[in-house]
Amino acid sequence: QDPTLDLAPRAGRLGAEVRGVRLSADLAPETFAAIHRALLRHKVLFFRGQRHLDDAGQQALARLWGELVAHPTVPSKDGTRHVLELDSFHGARANSWHTDVTFDLAYPKVSVLRGVVIPPVGGDTVWANTVAAYERLPAELQALADRLRAVHTNTYDYAHARETPPDVDATRRYREVFAAHEVETEHPVVRVHPETGERSLVLGHFVQRFQGLNSADSQHLLAVFQAHITRLENTVRWSWQEGDVAIWDNRSTQHYAIADYGDAHRVVRRVTVEGEVPVGVDG
Ligand code: SIN
Repeated sequence: QDPTLDLAPRAGRLGAEVRGVRLSADLAPETFAAIHRALLRHKVLFFRGQRHLDDAGQQALARLWGELVAHPTVPSKDGTRHVLELDSFHGARANSWHTDVTFDLAYPKVSVLRGVVIPPVGGDTVWANTVAAYERLPAELQALADRLRAVHTNTYDYAHARETPPDVDATRRYREVFAAHEVETEHPVVRVHPETGERSLVLGHFVQRFQGLNSADSQHLLAVFQAHITRLENTVRWSWQEGDVAIWDNRSTQHYAIADYGDAHRVVRRVTVEGEVPVGVDG
């Protein structure tokens, strides 16, 4: 426990609520340092009651972690440089497991998400710990993961069959914007965290294939790894209220936004911080 923060873990392997902090770019340096330490340890932090934050305030807050990066294909929300709005009425429902923007080489290290319109029931988000998943793999699978590299593309996540959302046209339009041009990159499947030295699995729904494996074998193997990452013991689930903020270490987590709220409206806004090119176990 950090004496400078009121922290309440929300699950056994990741996720903690931070109480008594009013988030802003003006956080005292020691408070920000404590939040960052907690982020590295708990991997996703939740803050209730941050209704004072607007788009500018959210961007300024995220800037404490480094340079902000706009989404490579989806235009930022009007009037902002770096806010990605995910509006269910426009088909934006991130209901499959992913780490943000892994189709970019130096994909974001930290994401800051703000609940703006929250449905009366449903719409929770679940995070999974990709370090704990790696650490609990059988040794043979760990050794395989250590050697593998994977190709990630932005056109791939929507290739999987998913439950049909209520507004099919809006979803199709969103997917067209999302994959306006193909962005593809390759990462080691296991990266070494630049700050903690922990090893984590870099996978999720942007993975198209593993180098050296065909598409069918890649899909089977991805399913094996994903099953380890997303087992319930390895997750934490957050029920949003308007004004909540979630901040996660995008180098050590995946997440899934549960689309169980039918036609209700859900709007969240995300700001991401530029990351590092992942380094594998062999450097
Ligand atoms: C995201 O994938 O970054 C958004 C998660 C959410 O909508 O809860």
